[in-house]
Amino acid sequence: MSSEFTFDPFLKGALPADFQWGYATAAPQIEGAWNADGKGLSIWDVFGHTPGKVKDGSTCDDACRSYDLYKADVARMKEYGVTAYRFSLSWSRIIPLGGADDPVNEAGIKFYNNLINELLANGITPFVTLFHWDTPQALEDRYGGMLNKEKYTPDFIRYARVCFERFGDRVKNWITYNEPGVYTLAGYAAGVHAPGRSSFRDRNEHGDSSTEPFTVAHTELVSHAYVCDMYKKEFQPTQKGTIMITLHGNWSEPYDETDPKDVEAAERAREFEIAWFADPLYGSGDYPASMRQQLGDRLPTFTEEEKRLVKGSSEFYGMNSYTSFFMQHRDGPADINDHKGNVIVHDKNKQGVERGIESDTPWLRTSPWGWAKLLRWIWGRYKTPIYITENGTTAKGEHDWKPKGPEDVLEDPHRIDFFRAYVGEVAKACQEGIIIKSYFGWTFTDNWEWAAGYTDRFGVTWVDFESEDKKRYAKRSAYFLKEYFGHLIRHD
Ligand code: NOJ
Repeated sequence: MSSEFTFDPFLKGALPADFQWGYATAAPQIEGAWNADGKGLSIWDVFGHTPGKVKDGSTCDDACRSYDLYKADVARMKEYGVTAYRFSLSWSRIIPLGGADDPVNEAGIKFYNNLINELLANGITPFVTLFHWDTPQALEDRYGGMLNKEKYTPDFIRYARVCFERFGDRVKNWITYNEPGVYTLAGYAAGVHAPGRSSFRDRNEHGDSSTEPFTVAHTELVSHAYVCDMYKKEFQPTQKGTIMITLHGNWSEPYDETDPKDVEAAERAREFEIAWFADPLYGSGDYPASMRQQLGDRLPTFTEEEKRLVKGSSEFYGMNSYTSFFMQHRDGPADINDHKGNVIVHDKNKQGVERGIESDTPWLRTSPWGWAKLLRWIWGRYKTPIYITENGTTAKGEHDWKPKGPEDVLEDPHRIDFFRAYVGEVAKACQEGIIIKSYFGWTFTDNWEWAAGYTDRFGVTWVDFESEDKKRYAKRSAYFLKEYFGHLIRHD
């Protein structure tokens, strides 16, 4: 087959034959149907309807309307050549009030059954995330959601049980939480995501950025562990699936690599961002010493039972990552609301080298050099096979694009370059012996990027959000990735 793309011949067949690839999404970002067929409210429904919280004033009421258009979406994914699809379940669509004794919404179950069946009928393997940030609002109102570990945990366990019971005969790849760190930092430290709590009273009425993020993170780790324990004991023997958690983490590089204090600061930043969750799960079994030293009692402690349950609970390392930053040490004590390890974050290093070229998203720059280091850091520290569950970019200039016809394709060289470099690093890491089992691009279609609304277009499919049926148009990168994985995956 002739191709418009050329690929590195040294990477041909670098990925194993059973490597899974596709796209990742999250229910609130794509589904729409926010109050249809018995769905209860999530904290993101309420947050989106609060004036001033979302950049473009939008809500996720309709999003991409994937709830209605899932069949066409699955057909498009098949055309894009994916082997797998990662999506999340909306807790409040399945249990509208969220609690352990609250009723199940059969219409919600039916929707996900239809989606799962459609995927399987098209030869696409589902990877299902139980929680992608959309806590049922009723639980937030009842007892403060994840701030209350004792009340929250049984509710999350029961929700997970319903999912395993109803979908586990066909779903074999489970993810408990998506990016617990971003949920807690953006929602409870910065207060810019739902549920919108922080110490900053110009932004949020309630909250305490110096304690709540660590409390919520603890609840996530512990409730995750109970759910894994239940899955392994009650479901895995017959359903034969696997369960993991997905952590976020960008690469932290020293600002001045000749300054030992910056080298230390960069490692501390990695620990505050990644090892915060990963050490208890895959490493020492406890929070990193650098965090305990800075945070003292503000960092919760695990009971012996919690420690035992958390360590080893996640069978694989679910990894989301996008970019890199330079870290410089700060002299003097850390601010009470610091959660980065007392560092100054830079876009350039001391020599003036940029971390990467800009995307359409301020924090996100193309930096495959850091991604390559991160893969090795995670593998070296945790020795756990990695599933890459998210990676991708926005690109400038996609807002004003005007399709010339229904089959028009948006040219997105910036995204193609990003994927070429990042996925190439995955292939090289595999050649070195690092075990990487999947790659999910973020994301399938442009969607609702949380507090950035519809302003960040991460998709390999362009969506006309003005149109009634949220019309989709392929971007060139979708076809690029299809051919690229065709080149990289070994065909035994
Ligand atoms: C991480 C999150 O899981 C996802 O929801 C978000 O849209 C992307 N990163 C891009 O910011």
